[in-house]
Amino acid sequence: MADRAALTSSPISPAQAAEFIRGRRTVDQFTAEVPDEAIIRDAIEVARWAPNHHLTQPWRFYLIGPESRAAIVDLNTRLVAARKGDEVAAAKRERWQQMPGWLAVTCEHNDDPVVAREDYAACACALQNLALYLHSAGLGSKWISGEVTRSPDLLPMLGIDAAREYCVGLLWYGYPRRRPRSQRSDLDSIVSRCP
Ligand SMILES: Cc1cc2nc3c(=O)[nH]c(=O)nc-3n(C[C@H](O)[C@H](O)[C@H](O)COP(=O)(O)O)c2cc1C
Repeated sequence: MADRAALTSSPISPAQAAEFIRGRRTVDQFTAEVPDEAIIRDAIEVARWAPNHHLTQPWRFYLIGPESRAAIVDLNTRLVAARKGDEVAAAKRERWQQMPGWLAVTCEHNDDPVVAREDYAACACALQNLALYLHSAGLGSKWISGEVTRSPDLLPMLGIDAAREYCVGLLWYGYPRRRPRSQRSDLDSIVSRCP
């Protein structure tokens, strides 16, 4: 039998892992620099090593080019205008146009609700892998799941078959302009012991 050290070897210590995981925070302000596409491709390569039940590998990743990005911003502006008015929509457009890197992540539909639920969970794991990898490369990211991601217009506009996939989220990525903060509740409020 292989020795324990070989089976459990990790390149980083638990303390380093904890610091690294805690260090990833959702970033919502980026510099104008557009990251090299190679970085996001590398991040996707790592993302797909997420756990996924029965190896369904339900995730799909779409690198968003300038035309698609403009179309998403237009669609979002229309949706926000309908709900909150033109002024708020114009401010959103301005903000969204500043986001340097765009990725769409989709999940394959599955008629079995148990598989569908597990596949969504797997995609969420993949997105976390992706965000952590970007963090290791000095980039920040933000998962967007707003109304635009559920719009029936989104996927056809991107050339994606909505009968086969649905959008799990858009991911903005780039070099952080500020280091955001985030809080978590006490461990005692979320951990219980079962007899
Ligand atoms: C499934 C999911 C959807 C999210 N959607 C949005 C979103 O639409 N807009 C947004 O501002 N943040 C969104 N976020 C990011 C959360 O707001 C963020 O994770 C939270 O504020 C905690 O910050 P942290 O990631 O730095 O810990 C989403 C996160 C997850 C996991």
